[in-house]
Amino acid sequence: SLAYFNGRFAALDEPLLPIEERGHQFGDGVYEFFRVYEGQPFMLEEHLDRLYRSADLIRIEIGQSREELKGIMDELMQRSGLSNGDIYLQVTRGIAPRNHPFPAVPSSLSLTIKPWRELPPATHQEGVGILLHPDERWLNCHIKSLNLLPNILAKQAAVDQGCFEAVFVRDGIITEGSSANFYLVQNGAIRTHPLSNRILGGIAREAIQRIADAAGIPFIEEAFSPDELFAADEAFLTSSGVELVPVVTVHGHGSIGSGVPGPIAIELYRQYAALTR
Ligand code: PDD
Repeated sequence: SLAYFNGRFAALDEPLLPIEERGHQFGDGVYEFFRVYEGQPFMLEEHLDRLYRSADLIRIEIGQSREELKGIMDELMQRSGLSNGDIYLQVTRGIAPRNHPFPAVPSSLSLTIKPWRELPPATHQEGVGILLHPDERWLNCHIKSLNLLPNILAKQAAVDQGCFEAVFVRDGIITEGSSANFYLVQNGAIRTHPLSNRILGGIAREAIQRIADAAGIPFIEEAFSPDELFAADEAFLTSSGVELVPVVTVHGHGSIGSGVPGPIAIELYRQYAALTR
């Protein structure tokens, strides 16, 4: 494992940030999470597109060019000796005395690389349970902002109930998970919330959409309600970190479909794994 902050590489447990860093004090920044397979961050360009877009939307000018960011990521991989790992990258509005208005300082850049956070094989093989949870987030969920308090509170509520993920419900509609996109399968078609300010446009979602298109599986971007989920044949969630995880139960409701991972989730996961390994 290895860390980086504003030009300096260091061990993960070494203090690197001054106390008046706006990511630390305000959550004033954006981030990306990349999975590295055999030395290659998966869908690197798509992640970088989203990073610059998110920064732009909160008016942070990233001090590094794309090529510079790629160079720093490469150096992090090289120095860590990890060819498979998880890279976390965060850009903040910089270091300045604590005051709400934007300071005239350069943005900060921090990264970590760690070995993959492996899930127990049962997660993918047997599927998981979810907890439906009110979506208490702001209305700019398409920005990959550092402010994750509603997400972590919902995730912990799910963990407290023995569930793998919290899935948000806003205005009677399922949006997405606390750290993943969410899908149902009905009559052989995948359905998921359309891209909007109510969800994060996941990069794994983009990969799954391409796989579905190539496999001739309809990918319908149309929101659905909890009742439609309860009537679905299958459900699953995706993120860069967990890839694709089948969802087989809903807390307080019971099984989805037959209560085991469905054939479409299994096939999509097989193809996702084949793309990356
Ligand atoms: N989370 N929706 C939310 C709210 C997320 O936080 C994430 C990812 C996703 C999936 O995005 P992607 O497919 O690009 O990983 C959807 C990351 C992994 C995290 O917070 O650690």
